[in-house]
Amino acid sequence: MGYTSIVGLQWGDEGKGRVVDYLSRDFFAVGRFQGGANAGHTVYLDKKSYVFHLMPTGLLREKVKGVIGAGVLIDPDVFLEEISWIEKRAGSLKERFFVDGRAHVVLPHHKEEDQWEEEKKGGIGTTKRGIGPAYRDLYARFGVRITELLGNNKNRALDRAITFNNQILGGRYGKPPISKENVLKKLNNFTEAISQFVANVPYLLADWDMGGKEILLEGAQGTLLDIFFGTYPFVTSSHTIGGGGAVGSGIPPHRIKKVIGVTKAYTTRVGGGPFPTELKGEEGNWIRERGKEYGATTGRPRRCGWLDLVALRYANLLNGTNEIVMTKLDVLSGLEKVKVCVFYKINEEKTQEFPMDSSQIGVVIPEYVELDGWDEDSVKEGIRGNALKYIKFVEDFLGIPVRYVSTGKEREEMVERPKEGWL
Ligand code: IMP
Repeated sequence: MGYTSIVGLQWGDEGKGRVVDYLSRDFFAVGRFQGGANAGHTVYLDKKSYVFHLMPTGLLREKVKGVIGAGVLIDPDVFLEEISWIEKRAGSLKERFFVDGRAHVVLPHHKEEDQWEEEKKGGIGTTKRGIGPAYRDLYARFGVRITELLGNNKNRALDRAITFNNQILGGRYGKPPISKENVLKKLNNFTEAISQFVANVPYLLADWDMGGKEILLEGAQGTLLDIFFGTYPFVTSSHTIGGGGAVGSGIPPHRIKKVIGVTKAYTTRVGGGPFPTELKGEEGNWIRERGKEYGATTGRPRRCGWLDLVALRYANLLNGTNEIVMTKLDVLSGLEKVKVCVFYKINEEKTQEFPMDSSQIGVVIPEYVELDGWDEDSVKEGIRGNALKYIKFVEDFLGIPVRYVSTGKEREEMVERPKEGWL
């Protein structure tokens, strides 16, 4: 009964995929509610890795149902590709997967536009999956919904979208116009494939919820990439915070009874934008190589740095986090000292408030507490010694229990907090 929301507390890539995969064993259904194929949720199972860009990660478990809510952007190519490999791995998705007909479609030129915009000076460093242009069209009311593609209004919806987009493609990028016929041709297979999965999702979810089922909402990206509360303009174009789960799936906010926030034991960021605890030298490279910090969607090297508790506290405030899952604690094993940021210094003044102005976030001076490091044995089959002290420090600072800690990439390498606490 009710919903549990899983959100990223940093700039994405916290390991939400593996957390959703692990926790989904106790859930009836898992739903995505925002973002699109810009996500890269990775699950390691039986020494193989599975990357979900668009579909809910829970679908890897054959008994779990999957839902895509109205707030998600559907990339037709990725949709077809993922349906195909998930069905090979976990059986037919018929009667097990549902997509809200209100969700919008990423059209082929959205991805091209995203790429052209990135090639201009000062790009955001996007995943080039067409997310910004497709959400722009949605909010400007030029977007195309799945119901429109499947219904009698198809031509009217596409004419409206394509006329608007051609003005942008010609005016801003000097590109030739696209034609409706071409777009329709490219969407043919997709339109046919998706029709069997379309559902009126808010009704479906309400039925499950009232019927006593537990539903997991799988957030994509992270809090600091939220369109309102992230480091704008270096953000994605959707609501990545807990509240986004209600908006993007069409459920009453009070039905979300728990928010689980996922953070790495350190911080990473991919793309441009401020990152106060970034390590630009050897230490950053060390973390990147040990943690295999390369993008699951784009393969880009991730920027790496120490854990930032000022930013995490801000993220918890926005999400109302009830429990934390800390991933990749094992990556830090072997360091003599490990640092965590506990204050920012701005103009000689100390603060624990995450600034509103992104340019200010770019120049704050992080103040650290240095903790003793631990060896690999301290995070094998349980967590001991200084590794345990690290978790406890984070827990005490944030005032929120760290409920699970991952110590390896396989599904079962997850340690649960003892009832009496970590120490
Ligand atoms: P977009 O979502 O592709 O428009 O990219 C906007 C910003 O969000 C860029 O900095 C991307 O690197 C970042 N971003 C988008 N999706 C993810 C993700 O799944 N993990 C990490 N960063 C992401």
